[in-house]
Amino acid sequence: MVAILGYTREQIFTAVKGMYTAVADAPSSHFHFPVGAGACRTLGYPDEQIDALPEAIRESFAGVGYPFRAGAVRRGDTVLDIGAGAGNDALIASGLAGPDGHVIALDLTPAMTRKLKRVAAESGHRNVSVVQGSAEQLPFADGSVDSITSNGALNLVPDKRRAVNEMCRVLRPDGRVQIADVVIRRPVTVDCHEDPRLWVECVVGATVEEDFLTLFRDAGFEDVEVLREVDYFSHSPSTQTREVAASFDARSVEVGMRRGSRTPSRVAQWLKRLNPVRLVKSMWRRGFTGTVSLVAAVLACYGTLAAVALLTMMGVGLALNEGLWAGTIALFAVLAAAAIAAGFRRHRGYGPAVLAVAGAGVILYALFVDYSMIVELSGFILLAGAAFWDIRLRRGEEARVLGLESSG
Ligand SMILES: C[S@@+](CC[C@H](N)C(=O)[O-])C[C@H]1O[C@@H](n2cnc3c(N)ncnc32)[C@H](O)[C@@H]1O
Repeated sequence: MVAILGYTREQIFTAVKGMYTAVADAPSSHFHFPVGAGACRTLGYPDEQIDALPEAIRESFAGVGYPFRAGAVRRGDTVLDIGAGAGNDALIASGLAGPDGHVIALDLTPAMTRKLKRVAAESGHRNVSVVQGSAEQLPFADGSVDSITSNGALNLVPDKRRAVNEMCRVLRPDGRVQIADVVIRRPVTVDCHEDPRLWVECVVGATVEEDFLTLFRDAGFEDVEVLREVDYFSHSPSTQTREVAASFDARSVEVGMRRGSRTPSRVAQWLKRLNPVRLVKSMWRRGFTGTVSLVAAVLACYGTLAAVALLTMMGVGLALNEGLWAGTIALFAVLAAAAIAAGFRRHRGYGPAVLAVAGAGVILYALFVDYSMIVELSGFILLAGAAFWDIRLRRGEEARVLGLESSG
């Protein structure tokens, strides 16, 4: 697989449509993900549900789990299936909602919506309507649906936060959601995030599980619960997809939740995103803890000096506690070295760890044994080199696993 970098979201949509047109029109072709009735069975759909579906629908199933485990769809519901594909779940929901209910199947790919429209009419599913559109901009009124189902679509959507906010908008208060989707444990950090061919592998576009669940909580969903984790990619016929998935610890989850009675404002959502614990966790996962701790050490050192000089010029006297000052710099320097050394687990390279420990050692020597500004500065330079090296190795390892010829 060769990466061509610098794609736009429109090109991601084009790649997604290309892939799923093939799933709709030529389902017996070779795909890197499981497709068809066999995949349905593997993921836990009961035989009676599979057997009741028209063959033309079953053959194009490309879901990643069994969202009905959450039991969101009730009799009489207006149900929205987001990224419905050929309509496997939409037709199951049609039976659950019954003649008084209504299912709206939405999908981005025209070949999928064409297929579902035709088969739903032929098979007499009168309570199903089919809409071509994007999850990021749902063409429905506020609070107009009772339940939402989605299977394997969100990982393909570029702006997931917008899609989740849209789900919240169209769902009535206390409305229920069932989702099966791909999540990862280690985030994808290289430029390939923008590459549509990798995106449609279903791993690169996926979100870290905790962030995925937080997206829903932020938007105003409550009782967000993972009901089952599925080792979905172990069923992939592609060795490379299995390797990519293992590297990012990708799997699918089946999640249930309901919309709260009130939704938080955009400002409240932003404030939640600024939560320091969340920021630190996200930094750690992305491998930036070393760099951020190094910046904190430099600021504690030279920033304090600059602030003291400035205040003195303004006539403000300041008594600096030198022990506390040195201790703070040392703490951040040691933290930076530890975080950089932890990169070994990802890329198996000793170099950055050795350089980082040397840098932190030099800084500690200057602070606590024999102070010299040149020595202290050299320590910071060594640490900066180690942080840079670590990031390069992490990116290189990721690019290797993803089969990229060049990461930029
Ligand atoms: C993995 S397939 C799953 C299809 C179906 N849910 C199933 O279980 O067979 C994902 C589907 O999501 C659709 N999709 C991808 N991005 C979308 C978007 N932004 N808005 C709506 N649908 C989208 C694709 O066209 C594709 O049909």
